[in-house]
Amino acid sequence: MELIFATNNRHKAEEIQQMLPGSVSVLTLEDVGIDEEIPEQQDTLEGNASDKSRYIYNRLSRNCFADDTGLEVDALEGAPGVYSARYAGSDKDPEANMDRLLEELKDEDNRRARFRTVISLILDGEELFFEGVVEGHILREKRGDEGFGYDPIFMPEGSSLTFAQMPMATKNRISHRSRAIKKLANYLNQYQNRFQ
Ligand code: IMP
Repeated sequence: MELIFATNNRHKAEEIQQMLPGSVSVLTLEDVGIDEEIPEQQDTLEGNASDKSRYIYNRLSRNCFADDTGLEVDALEGAPGVYSARYAGSDKDPEANMDRLLEELKDEDNRRARFRTVISLILDGEELFFEGVVEGHILREKRGDEGFGYDPIFMPEGSSLTFAQMPMATKNRISHRSRAIKKLANYLNQYQNRFQ
């Protein structure tokens, strides 16, 4: 089965490919000739993921999926959430995003936060959602140089290391994204078994 993934990031597509059943081939937007950027204009992760998968389905009528991720901070009522990439401005600068978040939380003791990934899958014209969450808290300073985005200030529950202090494989085992992808993989396995 071929599944189009709403990304042009080949690295992201390969990582997901490795977690899905071998019978599923992940194609990128470039593979199917969609070269425009798909807009993300909704105010929820579900809305953005859904808009992206529906965009592909409306263009090509093919099975596809899209994801959207945000960092939700309790003391900020869920911000930056769906705006995580552009929290400090449209240039999507991760250092500036972290600096803004640390500033917003500087007098705050409640540091609870979570990363949440939502996947919208369109299979045979039906839409399904999968969610992956990792709970944790926001530190008062940056630690570690691995990973990307908010990794240096996010410490997952039960760990004494930030995401940026972990080897990529360790982070990938417990991350929000991998939890959502595992649910997608389980669903695709069951779906394919039904038709074998
Ligand atoms: P996207 O939906 O995967 O593009 O993620 C949106 C934004 O959330 C990214 O630009 C990052 O700022 C943040 N983000 C998503 N996943 C992670 C992660 O695993 N670590 C740190 N930041 C992340």
